[in-house]
Amino acid sequence: MKLIDAEILENRQVLPGHKHIHARGILGSWLFRLNCPDIAREARPGQFLMVRCGPETTLPRPFSIHQAEGDDIALLYAVRENGRGTEWLSRQKAGTSVSILGPLGNGFAIDPKARNLLLVAGGIGIAPLYFLARQAVKDKRKVTLLYGTMDGNRYPVSPEIDVVVVTEDGSVGDKGFVTDLMPRLVRRAEQVFACGPMPMYRAMFNRQSQLKLKGKPVQISLEVRMGCGVGVCYGCTVKTKSGLKQVCKDGPIFELDEILWDELNL
Ligand SMILES: Cc1cc2nc3c(=O)[nH]c(=O)nc-3n(C[C@H](O)[C@H](O)[C@H](O)COP(=O)(O)OP(=O)(O)OC[C@H]3O[C@@H](n4cnc5c(N)ncnc54)[C@H](O)[C@@H]3O)c2cc1C
Ligand code: FES
Repeated sequence: MKLIDAEILENRQVLPGHKHIHARGILGSWLFRLNCPDIAREARPGQFLMVRCGPETTLPRPFSIHQAEGDDIALLYAVRENGRGTEWLSRQKAGTSVSILGPLGNGFAIDPKARNLLLVAGGIGIAPLYFLARQAVKDKRKVTLLYGTMDGNRYPVSPEIDVVVVTEDGSVGDKGFVTDLMPRLVRRAEQVFACGPMPMYRAMFNRQSQLKLKGKPVQISLEVRMGCGVGVCYGCTVKTKSGLKQVCKDGPIFELDEILWDELNL
């Protein structure tokens, strides 16, 4: 783990924003590329960085590693309505630098025997799964990416990944939610990896039999508020079947049925 000032190579908007009925709106999504050789070399899919987001925010913000190539790391972040940290980040220019700490957390674990993987991305949840998908394809695994968005605006995925799109407004692919397509796609996967909003995880947990997830190994990336990112403040503690866990150190990747969802106040 390294704390460094990394040069910003690129920071550009890649997706437009949208309003959300149930949650805070999103002003858009940005791709953020940084030069940080030491972190890029160590980074594994599912790990994250803590990024200091300007003088007005005391706490750094956690973001999943979206790509690690050569000396560079990329993040893909959504700018939240009234989100002080992400709004500040979106204003930063190439050629300046930001302070980052990472790579942090445990990362996804692919079973060496698993050949067929299903990756389930809800919205900006594509960020860490894109890194995982590319790695798995490089290792000659068959990857299906089930990618759910609100409308037809979605992040471009490289052609070697088999993508199944579902949109809430039905403008592209099937109309509905990722969970609607799971019963069909889960069957042939030996492992499932998911990243998305909390209601998606709750639906996956509560409807395991209906979604054909019962008995399948399912790993999820859990998003909770973080203070330090390194196991010091206990701000990210969650209850699991094996006791209290810190999401920043023991996670953010957990088995779906390891979390005590009824006790999680999110
Ligand atoms: C392990 C991990 C990985 C993440 N990866 C990504 C990613 O790849 N792309 C992305 O767009 N977002 C990601 N997030 C969510 C991201 O951290 C928040 O969107 C961001 O912190 C919002 O900051 P803000 O200052 O704009 O919002 P504010 O509302 O001003 O933030 C206030 C506080 O709430 C926290 N917070 C707000 N929203 C969230 C959230 N959804 N999850 C966790 N904490 C939140 C902030 O960190 C901050 O401490 C990740 C979160 C975690 C825990
Ligand atoms: S964020 Fe401080 S202990 Fe996890």
